[in-house]
Amino acid sequence: MSSENAGLQTNNQSPPKHIAIIMDGNGRWAKAKHLPRSSGHQKGVRTVRKIVKHCAKLGVNTLTLFAFSSENMKRSSEEVGLLFKLFLTVLKTETKKLKDNNIKLKIIGDLSVFTPEIQSLAREAEKQLSNNSGLNLVIAANYGGQWDIAEAAKKIAFESANGNINPEDIDSSTFQSFTSLAAYPKVDLLIRTSGEIRLSNFLLWDIAYSEFYFCEALWPDFDEDALDNAIKDFHSRDRRYGERNGER
Ligand code: IPE
Ligand code: IPE
Ligand code: MG
Repeated sequence: MSSENAGLQTNNQSPPKHIAIIMDGNGRWAKAKHLPRSSGHQKGVRTVRKIVKHCAKLGVNTLTLFAFSSENMKRSSEEVGLLFKLFLTVLKTETKKLKDNNIKLKIIGDLSVFTPEIQSLAREAEKQLSNNSGLNLVIAANYGGQWDIAEAAKKIAFESANGNINPEDIDSSTFQSFTSLAAYPKVDLLIRTSGEIRLSNFLLWDIAYSEFYFCEALWPDFDEDALDNAIKDFHSRDRRYGERNGER
């Protein structure tokens, strides 16, 4: 079979149910072009639009995007202010487009750091899109994987203190049900752009059996073909989940 045909055959396989992406490299993209970091972040938003549409077209169930980590709060107030402003603009301008594309939205992370305007727009956007039935778009904003685990532990502790959960009964599925991504399928494929090979406190609990894909492209340069390549690579993996090949 020619490699072209092999590619077509791969494309016919159903896509990963849940793709999560660490969208990294906006700053380096801007620097290479002698542009301000803000241009990199703006171009990054355009990539988000492309990738969201493409995932919807491919029939991906859930796309989780790391937009802003809890550690990103440590950047200069100028950059944090800029990212907050961009988040606000995106919430204002994109909700209608998401609605037209039948996309649902969920924003995960500690939203308390954001302005009341951003917080209410975020909740309003989620509400407006809640009746859609297509792609689940999850945006992680001021999110940290350790925060997510600590929050789940806190909620379970409260439930236990209130007598609703017996500590003896707590197992991984109980814990799972208190995490931010509880409502979605397991993360199949985790992608990070920009050549960095680390998690930077993105999903921790949720990636126990995810396939990882790291690529050199900076996020503003990532596109539909790059995503197709990641998916193709995903389909070539042998996911054994600890079992032995061919034995169940
Ligand atoms: C990713 O791009 C976007 C955010 C973290 C908000 P960066 O801003 O980290 O870009 P680099 O890594 O400096 O190139
Ligand atoms: C991770 O990228 C966060 C996002 C992409 C939103 P960073 O650029 O913040 O990560 P580090 O600092 O390189 O680990
Ligand atoms: Mg970075």
